[in-house]
Amino acid sequence: MKAIVFDRHGDPADVLQVWDMPEPEPSFGQVRVRMLAAPINPSDLLTIEGRYSKVPQLPALPGYEGVGVVEKTGGGLLGRLRLGKRVAVISAHGGTWSEFCIVSAKHVVPMPEEISDEQAAMFFVNPITAVAMVRSALAVPPGEFLLQSAAGSALGQMVIRLGQTFGFRTINVVRRREQAEQLRHLGGDVCISEADGPIVDQVRAATNGQGVRFAIECVGGSTGSAIVQCLGPRGRCLVYGLLSGEPIQVDPRQMISQGNIIEGFWLAAWLPRQGILRTLRLFRQVKKLMCAGVLRSDIAASYPQADVTQAMRHVQQSARGGKILLRISPR
Ligand SMILES: NC(=O)c1ccc[n+]([C@@H]2O[C@H](COP(=O)([O-])OP(=O)(O)OC[C@H]3O[C@@H](n4cnc5c(N)ncnc54)[C@H](OP(=O)(O)O)[C@@H]3O)[C@@H](O)[C@H]2O)c1
Repeated sequence: MKAIVFDRHGDPADVLQVWDMPEPEPSFGQVRVRMLAAPINPSDLLTIEGRYSKVPQLPALPGYEGVGVVEKTGGGLLGRLRLGKRVAVISAHGGTWSEFCIVSAKHVVPMPEEISDEQAAMFFVNPITAVAMVRSALAVPPGEFLLQSAAGSALGQMVIRLGQTFGFRTINVVRRREQAEQLRHLGGDVCISEADGPIVDQVRAATNGQGVRFAIECVGGSTGSAIVQCLGPRGRCLVYGLLSGEPIQVDPRQMISQGNIIEGFWLAAWLPRQGILRTLRLFRQVKKLMCAGVLRSDIAASYPQADVTQAMRHVQQSARGGKILLRISPR
């Protein structure tokens, strides 16, 4: 099979290669999925750069999610039920950018025809994280403000639409003025550009000086520090990304006097803690919200697997306006 591989860490545009490898065989409880398409997510880039929470053994196969068709089972009832189905795939050990990916039959979810291959390829990482953070971990009540950084990301836009669907209001921070304008059109309640002055002043002005009770933060550095500073009494912030690679500064006096909580959120750790019934309910809800367009991702471009270097150059550009996908094999 053709597989995208890295045998050293570094800039993804430099270190990724396409190798010919033997077709992998599934063991009992596993399935072999012929991959159709997969997105390039920030977590994939961090893994290739060697900056992610998990550091793989090299050479390694990148790609944590995608869509494909179950072609072979290693045995077991669930695998047999999935045979021939078009499924969304999540693979904690990577490999979704390869022609064939081996995963546990529990880690594939059949996709309805209403969900396109492109959207199905992005079923797990962003939609499930968005729903898990705002509906479960924070459970933002209707009418409350939720403050978020990098609000123009695929996940950030899903959060705006979740706010419209479930009745909470979003305060959206981005680094470019034109993106703040785009998010206003999308339905963001308050849209703030870092180019228009300090985030803290703009958030205080939007909240009558109160600050917010709920925030999600994925940039770090001065942006992340400002988001944390915007918390009001008993305010809680989930830190879920490290786009700038810079640490966050926290004022201990603010945390102590206001009883603020800052906690990490990682889907890979959160999802396995949910029982099977909650997980199945969550998957059903995410499929419904995807069909309704609430959890849709804009797509900037898709590249054939062989053009992975070009795809990496594109994904590293600012203001690219949507996700970049890899087309692995034809349907
Ligand atoms: N913890 C978890 O379990 C989990 C799960 C899913 C996603 N995530 C995280 O969620 C975040 C968003 O992911 P995504 O796939 O939705 O992203 P995406 O669609 O690829 O978009 C990235 C966005 O981040 C902005 N950005 C990049 N670097 C920035 C910086 N230094 N300062 C400010 N903005 C910056 C870009 O702005 P421009 O348009 O201006 O370039 C773009 O809007 C990532 O940090 C990802 O790792 C975490």
